Amino acid sequence: MKIERSFHSRIKKMDFENISFGNHYSDHMYYSEFRNGKWINSIIKPFGNIMFSPGSLVFHYGQSVFEGMKAYKDKHEEVFLFRPKENFKRMNRSAIRLEMTTIPEYIFMNGLKNLIDIDRDWVPKKYGQSLYIRPILIAIDKCLSAKPSNDYLFMIISTPADYYYKKPLKIKIEEKYSRSASGGVGFTKASGNYASSFYPTRLAKEEGFDQILWTDSSTHTLIEESGTMNVFFWLKNKLITPLSNENILSGITCKSILSLAKEEGLEIEERKLKVSEIIDGLKNKILKEAFGCGTAVVVTYFEIISYKGKNFFLPDLLDKERISIRLRKKLLDIQHNLSVDPFGWRLKL
Ligand code: PLP
Ligand code: COI
Repeated sequence: MKIERSFHSRIKKMDFENISFGNHYSDHMYYSEFRNGKWINSIIKPFGNIMFSPGSLVFHYGQSVFEGMKAYKDKHEEVFLFRPKENFKRMNRSAIRLEMTTIPEYIFMNGLKNLIDIDRDWVPKKYGQSLYIRPILIAIDKCLSAKPSNDYLFMIISTPADYYYKKPLKIKIEEKYSRSASGGVGFTKASGNYASSFYPTRLAKEEGFDQILWTDSSTHTLIEESGTMNVFFWLKNKLITPLSNENILSGITCKSILSLAKEEGLEIEERKLKVSEIIDGLKNKILKEAFGCGTAVVVTYFEIISYKGKNFFLPDLLDKERISIRLRKKLLDIQHNLSVDPFGWRLKL
């Protein structure tokens, strides 16, 4: 793979004390083209604009999928990726559903490792901070026929990240709009899934909420996920999360939290979860905690859940009483190489 180094690092302009998510990019990017059935022109090069025809299929029919993952530093400033193969596999599951090319493992992993290695100074040092990594695959055929592209562009960019949410969340259970439907693309990280969530999320924000808790599109009686998070509920001394299905993005953080919770001996249920169980739990004060988790979000707990115009407050626990805070620490300790990694999740660069 070709490597073209940037002569002018922008890192001195980066304020690691005040990181605003996704607004500053590391010095380099990875770029690879899939043309005529072959991966060509793979290069690590200075981060910069790309130029494509306005006729490119991605602009018209939305063949675009992406991933989100992170690199962390330990106290010796060694850099670790967290479960990157899971992102690689999920990206290809998304690509297959959107009738796009899949990415060979060597293209994904070599691009990723070389990029983060060359930009390792961009991985923040502080606990909880990380370098957020965004692989993206887009369709580049210049053709207005509504058909899948033959050619694609795969890129990886990265941006320093801190906690995505700085405070607990106010969540609204959605009764009208849907993020996904059965048979659809809800389980993928298709860019269009995010575009279609923006309008209902804006409406919820105007009502004072931070995010929507999505429910199934046909009955709005089953909990799915929220914003960019999978969700957990600590109900009757059980940790419950909706069973992953074709409507829900199968989160790598969610899977990790499940493993950590099982390791602790918590009682866990992955199953269909009714909105009515959550509302009963809130009314009867047997729902002690609710939280979301994801790569960007890490783990963030909810303070209010709203349903049919009524706000329900979750118990105001101390941090040391919270399962969400305990599991977040366990996860971050593994990510920052502060604790043993019994599951083999870290990949040292
Ligand atoms: N659900 C959605 C819609 C997301 O965007 C994300 C974030 O990536 C998640 C769930 C959590 O997935 P992961 O833990 O793999 O980041
Ligand atoms: C992630 O957590 O990786 C995401 O995709 C969230 C992003 C849309 C901000």
